[in-house]
Amino acid sequence: MNAPLRAFDVEAIRAQFPILRTLVHGKVPLHYLDNAATAQVPDAVLDAMRAHDELRRANVKRGVHALAEAATDAYAAARTKVAQYVNAREDREVIFTSGTTGAINLVAHAFGATLKAGDEIVLSGLEHHSNLVPWQLLRERTGVKLRFLGVTEDGRIDTGDLDELVSERCKLIAVTHVSNVTGAITDVAAVVRAARTVGARVMLDGAQRASHGPVDVQGLGIDFYALSSHKMFGPSGVGALWGRAEVLAALPPFLGGGEMIRTVTLEKSTWADIPARFEAGTPPITQAVGMGAAVDWLAQVDTAAAAAHTGHLAARVLDGLRAIGGANKRVRVIGPQTMERRYPVIAFAVDGAHPHDICQILDSHGVALRGGHHCAQPFHESRGLAGTTRASLALYNNAADVDAFLSGLDDALTKLT
Ligand SMILES: Cc1ncc(COP(=O)(O)O)c(C=O)c1O
Repeated sequence: MNAPLRAFDVEAIRAQFPILRTLVHGKVPLHYLDNAATAQVPDAVLDAMRAHDELRRANVKRGVHALAEAATDAYAAARTKVAQYVNAREDREVIFTSGTTGAINLVAHAFGATLKAGDEIVLSGLEHHSNLVPWQLLRERTGVKLRFLGVTEDGRIDTGDLDELVSERCKLIAVTHVSNVTGAITDVAAVVRAARTVGARVMLDGAQRASHGPVDVQGLGIDFYALSSHKMFGPSGVGALWGRAEVLAALPPFLGGGEMIRTVTLEKSTWADIPARFEAGTPPITQAVGMGAAVDWLAQVDTAAAAAHTGHLAARVLDGLRAIGGANKRVRVIGPQTMERRYPVIAFAVDGAHPHDICQILDSHGVALRGGHHCAQPFHESRGLAGTTRASLALYNNAADVDAFLSGLDDALTKLT
């Protein structure tokens, strides 16, 4: 693990991300504000993956030779790091997956296999498609019923609906921890309380939360947590599902293949214990090592100072959007209007301008944004919006990024009248 950074120093952080020194289109500095889609990778993570493939590359668990043992140890160490990052009770509660989507599909299949027609799953109208479509597919397979918490005017999951929607038939409440559109933090305590009164499980989609510092799955009192490495300054192709050990241990496998079995005959197979039961085939080994390095890197950042830094920048983004919106009434922030109980993910709509056109003009200023429905089409449709433009900040963003965004947006609005 790196030496702790004494205070939050954004320039020292930036120096660790080589991509931030590149020029967009070969001429303008990069202002990367698309962190909710994928965050950038620091040297520590790039170095860890390179060292793994140079020195320890082999398949895990299968070989009795020095490299195979070293690779197996590195893979196990990565699991320990992720387990510590989310405050799991035991390493075996962490299953490596392809990402949040892979983790949620795992739950939808393995936990879903324990459900029957008429059982209910409570979701919300603010979910990413990754936490909606797997449950729709489960509904087609088993006849479970899906019910949806509403969304408040300021873009939060409406936990006031819980009493009405969570009945004795409810087996799972699966909601996002932080919205990838509005940045709002879900009132997890209210969700857990409602679930516990009827004996239902709780799963959180942590894709947007996990990059902002360690997570306490025990403190949250939940059963499953899904996360993606590529949003946490790690490589793509890997993520994790954390599950309470006794809950995971009672579930059947999802994917079948090598390493997830205890015994195999031509007639039948029996299953390995967790976590192997849920990791069929060769896992993303180098990527898991990279994810381990990313959580190590995140764990040595002063995340409270980083949150104050990004919160301050995001407040400037909100003020800037309000100033532009006030001048011509065209710009609306979709979600909380202040930085209270939210993360720095800011979506906005501009009357008479398509998000893709805005993004294209901002790209010519070196500013990377995302435009569209951000895989949350039902929420956008509920607001009568085809899409929004989204600026999402990470700890390496600085005042120059915010200035470039606001002046680029001014330019876009002038051009798109
Ligand atoms: C809230 C949320 N859930 C799920 C996902 C899906 O993550 P992945 O594509 O890494 O599986 C995302 C990614 O944008 C997200 O923001």
